[in-house]
Amino acid sequence: MRITVIGCGYLGATHAAAMADLGHEVLGMEIDPEKRAALSRGEVSMFEPQLAEVLSRHVESGRLRFTGSYAEVAAFGELHFVCVGTPQQPESLAADVSQVETAFAGLAPHLDHPTLVVGKSTVPVGTAEWMAQVLTANSPVGSEALLAWNPEFLREGFAVQDTLHPDRIVMGLQDGRAEKLLRDFYAPMIDEGTPVVVTDYATAELVKVAANAFLATKISFINAMAEVCEATGADVVDLADSIGYDDRIGRRFLNAGIGFGGGCLPKDIRAFVHRAGELGIEDAMTFLRHIDDVNQRQRERVVDIARAMVGGKLAGARIGVWGAAFKPDSDDVRDSPALWISGQLHLRGARVRVYDPQANVTAGQGYPTLSYADSAIEACQGADLVLHLTEWPEFRQITPADLDGVVARQRIFDGRNVLDLDAWRSAGWKVRALGRR
Ligand SMILES: NC(=O)c1ccc[n+]([C@@H]2O[C@H](COP(=O)([O-])OP(=O)(O)OC[C@H]3O[C@@H](n4cnc5c(N)ncnc54)[C@H](O)[C@@H]3O)[C@@H](O)[C@H]2O)c1
Repeated sequence: MRITVIGCGYLGATHAAAMADLGHEVLGMEIDPEKRAALSRGEVSMFEPQLAEVLSRHVESGRLRFTGSYAEVAAFGELHFVCVGTPQQPESLAADVSQVETAFAGLAPHLDHPTLVVGKSTVPVGTAEWMAQVLTANSPVGSEALLAWNPEFLREGFAVQDTLHPDRIVMGLQDGRAEKLLRDFYAPMIDEGTPVVVTDYATAELVKVAANAFLATKISFINAMAEVCEATGADVVDLADSIGYDDRIGRRFLNAGIGFGGGCLPKDIRAFVHRAGELGIEDAMTFLRHIDDVNQRQRERVVDIARAMVGGKLAGARIGVWGAAFKPDSDDVRDSPALWISGQLHLRGARVRVYDPQANVTAGQGYPTLSYADSAIEACQGADLVLHLTEWPEFRQITPADLDGVVARQRIFDGRNVLDLDAWRSAGWKVRALGRR
């Protein structure tokens, strides 16, 4: 099919490249001229496994192109996927849906033949209903410009794989023609057994935020348990393993650590709380405020632990930090707990040296006052303390012997609960982690 993807950031660039890989003709629309030029050269601005390779292959084959023109998008596509951003508003918990509004308002006047617009962005419940009205009111074909909401569940670090093999496809719609078109479009996934949920707009919008709220709750739950473990001499990893064997609970997302971050979970749960307030049901969502608080508290606790580990005074302490991205296999530093902690330590006078295998550049853009190293070992040169904050596999491979003669003091904090604490202790290191014995 001939499809278009409006907004080519993490979600849109991945969707565009993956759909070209499935054989569709794809026209991506990106408003940022620099990003658009890079994409047109087959380059992606972020690190995401497989993405650069798939995208450049299809730019080269001519199956994937990019534009900045709504008119071209409208003329080209049978299906238009809207993948623009919905960040948190600067001074509110609410989502900023202005990019969504602009995209629909910009596209609608050019829709002069019956078509389907598919919203994929994560939006507050009620947005789709409103965008359907924008389409009907502003497009020459009126109500023949159909709308579906098809939330995206891809995980950064697995984005291409998740897009090509999603664990479910949710279609929020009001018209059987939209369902038929989407089922045809997603036939390769449906044929391999991917479950499809066909529902209304509101449910489709809620599925995404409810899923993120649940995942955030799981993480904050185990982080709260980590604090209980510390107070009682228990071990949170043994605890998580043990409760995780219960199928009703499951082990995933039960890794205690410095908490969640990124461009989705934090802003999505805050937007959910805000929307609940607008709907007059704030009390029902109050628990999500606590989930957010527990998450923030983890970051603050790490700053306190670091202070204690360097002897009570951060000013002048040298701290080597492993990790800046909010998760491994990504260079995304949006609301990254690793960077927040590094920034706070720096503000309190510590001399912080950060190394991330992929995110040094993106981290440097947001936190230019931190210093960045070219390797994990270099980050620890002369360090009084090493902090392991993002769970890249290469950090797990580092042994105490690798840091012999590198650090000034043998002290390490594991913020992800994956290092072999016994091995570090046996080598004479002072070790701390969250919720561990
Ligand atoms: N990043 C993820 O892992 C992920 C996963 C699932 C869902 N989502 C949701 O997908 C949406 C997009 O997220 P993202 O991380 O890709 O954001 P992003 O900021 O990386 O990308 C948005 C892109 O849209 C472009 N844009 C904005 N307005 C435009 C317009 N009118 N026309 C064309 N381009 C326009 C921006 O320049 C930017 O490149 C959000 O709602 C997010 O919550 C993201």
